[in-house]
Amino acid sequence: MPNRILVVDDDPVNQKLVVIVLKQAGYETFTANTGADALNRVEEIRPDLIISDVEMPEMNGYELTRQLRQKTTTAHSPIMILTSHDTVQEKIKGFEAGADDYMTKPFEPSELQARVRVLLRRVTALPAETHKIKGKVIAVFSLRGGIGTSTIAANLATGLAQLWGCGTGLIDLVLTSGQSALMLNLPLRKTWADLARLPVEEIDAELIERVSLSHRSGAFVLAAPNRPEQAELITGDKVAHVITTLRERYHYLVLDLPHDFSATTLAGLDNADEILLVLAPELASLHAAACALDVFDTLKYPRQIIRLVLNWTFERRGLARKEIEDALQRLIDVVLPFAPDAFVPAINRGVPPVLETPPTPLAALFEDWAYALSQPEHHKPPPATPSPAYQRVAARLAQRQAKR
Ligand SMILES: Nc1ncnc2c1ncn2[C@@H]1O[C@H](COP(=O)(O)OP(=O)(O)OP(=O)(O)O)[C@@H](O)[C@H]1O
Ligand SMILES: [Mg+2]
Repeated sequence: MPNRILVVDDDPVNQKLVVIVLKQAGYETFTANTGADALNRVEEIRPDLIISDVEMPEMNGYELTRQLRQKTTTAHSPIMILTSHDTVQEKIKGFEAGADDYMTKPFEPSELQARVRVLLRRVTALPAETHKIKGKVIAVFSLRGGIGTSTIAANLATGLAQLWGCGTGLIDLVLTSGQSALMLNLPLRKTWADLARLPVEEIDAELIERVSLSHRSGAFVLAAPNRPEQAELITGDKVAHVITTLRERYHYLVLDLPHDFSATTLAGLDNADEILLVLAPELASLHAAACALDVFDTLKYPRQIIRLVLNWTFERRGLARKEIEDALQRLIDVVLPFAPDAFVPAINRGVPPVLETPPTPLAALFEDWAYALSQPEHHKPPPATPSPAYQRVAARLAQRQAKR
C-alpha cells in the first residue's frame, strides 16, 4: 500500500504542485485548505506524513503542527513544514512547534521526494500499528474459578483481531496455570518467564513482541509460564509496565485474570479501561461477584467501567437474571448461554467458538460483543476494507434496526 500524505495549503496552485510531485513518486495524497480542515480529517485520513504551508488564514502552519502533536493519531507522525520563509528564526519556530523537517519554496521536486522518503522510512521501519495508539485494556475477571473467564478472554481477543484486522494482545495473567495459549492451540515456545528474568527497565516493546505467540486470527498471546515456580519472577510493576508499553502499539489488550487480588492481578485491574466481571447463576458465584464489587468500590474503580457477564456454565436451573441483578444492584450486560457442545470441543481443538466457520450463533454473539467493546475510532467511520467479521456484524445491526 502506498504511504498516505496529507498536504495542507490554502493556495490551490502550491497545493497542486506538491501533490503532483508526490504522486509522481507513487504516494497517495490528500489535501486540506486550512489547518482546521486538516485537524478535522486526520482521524479519517490517517496520514503517514503531513506537509504543511506556514502562511494560512486563521491557523498558521506552526499552530497546526502544535495541535497535530496533541492529537493521539498524529502525535508521532512526521510533519514537514514547506514555506517561502527561509530565515533561521523561522526554521527554529517550525522545529519548536514540533515539525520534523523544514523545506523552503520554491523547491526542487527531487529534493522534496528525497526528504519525504527519509521521513517515511522512520514510519515504515516500525510496524503499521505503532502510530501512537491509546489501546483499550479489557480485563476479564472473577473471584470464582471454572466459570469461563479464560474462554471469554480468548474469544474476545481473537474476535477483536478478526473484526478490525489489527494486532490484539491476549495477556495471560493466570501466572501459575494459565491456559490461554492452549485454548488457541499455540505451542509454548516463549512465555512471560522469558521476560520476567529481566529487570523492568530492560523490557521494551520489541522484546515483548518476540516472546509473544502469534495466532492466525491476528491476535498474539503473552503466555503464562509453563512451570508454576517461574510465576514468582513476575511482579506487579512488570505487569503494569508490559500493559502500558503494549497499549501504545495495539488497539486492544485482553487480560485473562486469575481469581485473586494478588499484586499482578491488581496491576492488570488498575490498568483496565473495562472490567468484565464474570459470574455463573449460582449462589457461590453471586457471592464472589458481590465480594469483587466491594473491592472495586474500595479501590475506587469507576462504576461504569465494570460490566457484569452472566455465563450459564451448567444446565440445571440457576438463579434468574433479575434475582442476580437485584442482589448486586447492577444490571447484567451480557448473557452467555450454556453451550457445552461448542465450548468443550473448542478447547480440545484449540479453536475458540468465535472463529467457527460457518459462523454459529455463539460466534455471532462474541462478534457482536467484540464490536460493542471496540474503540469509538473503530466504529466511525466504517473501515475502508471491512473484514468478513465486520460485514457480518454490520448486517446483523442493520437487521435489528429494520425490525425496530
Ligand atoms: N457457557 C458455557 N457453556 C458450557 N461450558 C462452558 C461455558 N463457558 C465455559 N464453559 C466451560 O467451562 C470450563 C471452564 O472454563 P474456563 O477455563 O474458561 O474458566 P475459567 O474461569 O477461566 O477457569 P479457571 O478457574 O481454570 O481459570 C471450560 O471447559 C469451558 O469450556
Ligand atoms: Mg482461566
